[in-house]
Amino acid sequence: MLKVNQLQTYIEQFHILQGVEFEVPEGQVTVILGRNGAGKTTTMRSIMGLTPAKSGEILFQGKNIMALPPYVTAKKGIGYVPEDQDIFGTLTVEENMRVAMRKEDKATLERQEWILSLFPDLKAAWKRKGGNLSGGQKQMLSIGRALVNETPLLLIDEPSKGLAPIMVKKVMEALQIIKNDTTVLLVEQNFMMASRIGDYFYILDEGRTVYQGEMEQLRKDEELRKKYLGIS
Ligand SMILES: Nc1ncnc2c1ncn2[C@@H]1O[C@H](COP(=O)(O)OP(=O)(O)OP(=O)(O)O)[C@@H](O)[C@H]1O
Ligand SMILES: [Mg+2]
Repeated sequence: MLKVNQLQTYIEQFHILQGVEFEVPEGQVTVILGRNGAGKTTTMRSIMGLTPAKSGEILFQGKNIMALPPYVTAKKGIGYVPEDQDIFGTLTVEENMRVAMRKEDKATLERQEWILSLFPDLKAAWKRKGGNLSGGQKQMLSIGRALVNETPLLLIDEPSKGLAPIMVKKVMEALQIIKNDTTVLLVEQNFMMASRIGDYFYILDEGRTVYQGEMEQLRKDEELRKKYLGIS
């Protein structure tokens, strides 16, 4: 569904991505792992066109989407949940959902109902302002906003970051349902979450893809986790 070849991205004069490569097959959860500063967020931002890549190739459903403006990328069906959730603090949960909608047709409203069934916490907070939500509720709202439009591919950057353990569990359970009909590219440092949800993984280091394999392999290989991720 998504294929990234030899991605090179600069931020100002800094050469941040220096050959990122991976594939996201339809129907799977592909996980990008790597230490802090490895280039995971920059990779997602390059795909969305928020930090456009300088060279390389990004193919979505066989078509080149390299360096398109973010709104065009989103319209093609790529949902993005950024590392620091993109919700409006002064708007209610309901209003945040409404402004995320590209259309207000039946299918969109049905998707909204589905999202609220996945995240009852959001339904309970429906009239509350985004700024007053807990970290977990903000993450749920951010995921909901991405999924309310037709989204065959969801990019999600560290959904467990900063969340209380109970919220990590709720978000993980929701992702387990979401992955049944949405292809997912997940960046996640929480190895428990990554390994339970992921099918296949890639490891980035210093802006390059350095390792890849079945998630099952990484679950069993403590040495590999230590070498590239610094965890056991
Ligand atoms: N605006 C910026 N200006 C300069 N350097 C930047 C900027 N944003 C990111 N970088 C650098 O680019 C590199 C990759 O950053 P990126 O945020 O993509 O890493 P990451 O893998 O997502 O890390 P983390 O796990 O901490 O989220 C880092 O060395 C970072 O310092
Ligand atoms: Mg990051």
